Parts: sequence; C-alpha cells; structure tokens
Amino acid sequence: EQGTNPPGSTAVAEKPVQTATKTVTLLFGSETGNAQALAEAFAARLKEMQFTVSFSALDAAKPKDLKNAGYLLIITSTQGEGDPPDNALSFYELIHSRKAPKLDGVQFSVLALGDQTYEFFCKVGKEIDKRLEELGGERLYPRVDCDVDYEEDAQEWFEGVTGVLQSSALPPSTAADATRPANTDYSKSNPFQAEVLENINLNWEGSNKETHHIELSLEGSGFTFEPGDSIGIYPENDPELVERLIEKLGWDPKEPVPINKKGEVLPAREALLRHYEITRLTKPLLQQAAVLFGNKGLTALLENEAEAKAYLEGRGLIDLVEEYPPEKVEVQAFVQMLRKMPPRLYSIASSWKANPDEVHLIIALDCYTANGRVCEGVCSGQIAGRIKPGDKLPVYVHRNPNFKLPADPDVPVIMIGPGTGVAPFRSFLEEREAEGITGRTWLFYGDQHFATDFLYQLDWQNWLKNGVLERMDVAFSRDQAEKIYVQHRMLEKSKDFYAWLEKGACVYVCGDEKQMARDVQETLLHILETEGNMTREEAEGYLQEMRQEKRYQRDVY
Ligand code: 2AM
Repeated sequence: EQGTNPPGSTAVAEKPVQTATKTVTLLFGSETGNAQALAEAFAARLKEMQFTVSFSALDAAKPKDLKNAGYLLIITSTQGEGDPPDNALSFYELIHSRKAPKLDGVQFSVLALGDQTYEFFCKVGKEIDKRLEELGGERLYPRVDCDVDYEEDAQEWFEGVTGVLQSSALPPSTAADATRPANTDYSKSNPFQAEVLENINLNWEGSNKETHHIELSLEGSGFTFEPGDSIGIYPENDPELVERLIEKLGWDPKEPVPINKKGEVLPAREALLRHYEITRLTKPLLQQAAVLFGNKGLTALLENEAEAKAYLEGRGLIDLVEEYPPEKVEVQAFVQMLRKMPPRLYSIASSWKANPDEVHLIIALDCYTANGRVCEGVCSGQIAGRIKPGDKLPVYVHRNPNFKLPADPDVPVIMIGPGTGVAPFRSFLEEREAEGITGRTWLFYGDQHFATDFLYQLDWQNWLKNGVLERMDVAFSRDQAEKIYVQHRMLEKSKDFYAWLEKGACVYVCGDEKQMARDVQETLLHILETEGNMTREEAEGYLQEMRQEKRYQRDVY
C-alpha cells in the first residue's frame, strides 16, 4: 500500500465518479461549524474537479482509513485553550497514542482555524500537522493557520493544495461561501442591513449585569435559520475612540484608507469605524508595531517576554499609540498591521418557523477593567450604548450543524444553559411550540439573582403551562450564602437525569466554556458513574458514544 499512487479501494465515495483518477480523504474537526462548512465546500469543489472524495469528521475516520488515505486533507479548528473540537477528540487521542497508524506513503496538508487573541492559536492544527509527519506522512502542501477572518487564507490553501494535486490548470475559483443559506444573496461577505425593532435591557435595576434582548427585522433578506444557528453581526467601533486614534496618529479623517486586499478604500474615519479592530492588542501586532513605529522603547519592551505579556493584558491600541508614539507612520502600513473587524456570533433566541421575518438575540454587555480603565466589548458596547430601534446592523446567518434538535420529536431533550447560554433553548421551544410538539423537554437555567436576572421568565412559565416544556430547574447562584449552580440541580435530580439518558435523551449545553461547561461535563460523568454504576473509563466511553450519536452537543464560548 505504499508509494505515491493513492489506493482507491478503501474510499467511501458518496458517488463513484467514473472518470475519477485520484482519491482524496478530506476530514474535519469542527465545533461551531466553520471548519465543517469549509470542508463541505471544498469537498464539493474537489468532486467537480473529478476527484473521488472520502469525507467525514475526524472522529469517524478509522486508523485503516488514515493508513490508506493516499491524499489526506485535514481542516480543524482549535477550542479555547488549545483543545480539539468535540468531533476530533478521539482522532486526537489516537494519533498521540501507541495505536497510532503508520502513515508512510500518505501525503497530507492541514488547514488550521483559530483565533490570534488566544495564547494557543491554532494549536490543534499545528499539533496534527506535526504528528502526521512524525507518523511517516509527507507534507504535500504547507499548513496554513487562519485567524477569525479565515476566508481568504482558506481559499489560498485550497488552491495551493489542488495545484499540487493536479498539474493541469485549475478551473476558475468559485469562492464557495459556506455560510450562505439557500434563497438569498446575503452572506458573510455580503451582510444584510437589518433594522433594529427592539432593544431592551432584560435585567432589572440592581443587577450586576446588563443583558440586551434585541429584535432584528429580516424582512427582505431571504434568510432562513434553524434552532441552534447563530447570527453574525459586524459591529462598529466607538466613534470617540476612532477620533482619538486619528488625532494621535496625525491623520486627516478623510484620508483614503484601504479596507481589503483588493485595494478598495474608504475615508480613514469610516475605515477605522467598521473595517478594523482597533481595541485589542496582540503579540504579533506589537512586534509589527515595533518595526513600523521605529520606537526604541517599544523594541526594548518586546525584548522582555514577561513585560511584553503584562503590557498586552492591560492595554489597547490607543495606549500603544499614546505610550510609544510612532515617528511617522504611513496610513497604509498602519492598517496593514491591524486585524480586519471580525463579525461577532450570537446564538439565535427565536424560531424562524414562529417568526420568519424576525430574529431575536441576547447580548450581554461585556464590561471589564484594563489598566485602570473601564472597557466594553466592541459589539456588546455598541448594542448597549448606541443602538436604538430604527438603526441598522449588518448581519448574516451562520449555520451550526453541531447544535441541532433531534429529527425525531419523541427523543427527550435536556437543555443546560445558564446566563446568555439560554438563548438557543428559547429558539428550541418556540420552534417546537410552532410545530405543535409537547413534552419530553427539560431545561436547567441559572443566573445570579431571581429578582433581577431571570431572563425570559414569562416565556418559560408559558411553555411549562402549555406543555412545550416539561420540566425546569433553576439555580440562582447568589440568592443564598453558598453558590448554587445548574450542575448542583443536575446532581439533585441524578436519578431522573440518568433515566432520561437511558431513554436516549439528547443533552445540549450552551454558555461559558471555561468554567460552566467543564463543570457540567464533570457532573454528567459523575451521574453516569453513580447512577449507571460505571467506572470513570466507562462513563467517558458512554459520553463519547453520545457525542458520536449527536446526543451530546455543545455551543460554548
Ligand atoms: P456566579 O456569577 O454567581 O458565579 C450565569 O452567569 C450563571 O452561571 C451565574 O449564576 C454564575 O454564577 C453561574 N456560574 C459561574 N460559574 C459557574 C460554573 N463553574 N458552573 C455553573 N455555573 C456557573
């Protein structure tokens, strides 16, 4: 089975193409659906190019499939602190274990999706790339690491890979836009200007939080969506910050500034308002600025790793420009170091079937103190502080195939969503109500205080009354001396919880990843151990099986 000619016998092509000459195995690891959508689009294009394509999630690939892959393309994202997506967990373990297959004769290439603002940027893609080589594979095209605005880099990778795969000329690029739902011209690269219909702070006076319920009109957009999908919003920077920055840089606000690689320009003020991220600092930015600014102090700062790291944590771009003023910076060179403004994704909180012309979202004001100053998140700050009904927001629908209600309405549904994590569950229940489905649903919700933070209290009460929601357990963490969280409620109801699992329930978790989702998972394992008399290993196996059957789905951030 060795050599450069890929064996075709083991491929599980959806439809064997008669003229196909080469088999390509294309595997993805995807949590929010970006990597999966890219992989789907690329698989379709490979088929158009007459390749036979064997396509699946990383976890669905058997060691034998990998060994015999011939050409192996992998597209994977990285979660939070460097973890693999759920549908790549067992693959990741496999290639690091003693059972890892030998990959001599396999030619591979990796496309890594990630977020530059995280320390372990693209770690999973990097690690897979390294392991495949260690296992004997040969890199057919270098790995590409993409930041949140991944489209252009992903296209370049695909074209590079296919260029190697086929020596003949490539067909013209059709830049597949994976996020474009049917029947609409609007997409991530061509957002719809949605009118704001409502903007209400859901928290009552005295709350520590400010959580906005937003209603947007989708009339005329042609968008459709399903529960579990998200809306991407392109936010606008704070105009005061933009003005300050322009002033500090000594620019003319009308100075033409490029906004993309195609060379389109806008006046500086507009470009900085909508097209570039001008708040966060990252290490690569600091490094580029040191070269560009010609500021000795900045170069010295970068030489001390610990100091540079500390500097990044408490400061923004404006601090950098004020504290280490550039000698003279060309507008073009300056914006080239900035990151393009990435859209922000929010889980949809309404049902298209119930309200096709609208979409509802919950957006919590992200407020933090940095370097002694109170700062707000770009998008949540704009929503909380500057957006009113009648304004417009550029939006698109982002499909999430990994957070979907079971096709069979009789399958029990357990939903765990404290805080803004409850958003998709309002969509789930509104959808089921519109379809006339009752029962077999259980919601765990939590927030700080009953009196001020019970988001959508009336909705849940109505659904409990009309039977769309069968059970609800709430955990108000700060209404008593000791903390009570959703997982404590799960524990109290262990017996029932396990009985639902044994009846085939699907479990959905949405919300904070680092603490909540981890603790909830730990509790799930604990319930399996105690109620199901399992060892830790058996419990983990049970959960892994649930993942593979799409009975354990998470939308965490
Ligand atoms: P806290 O703010 O009192 O710590 C929604 O934000 C709710 O999630 C709040 O009640 C918050 O409680 C709670 N929360 C915080 N950490 C959590 C964790 N590790 N597991 C579950 N819930 C948590």
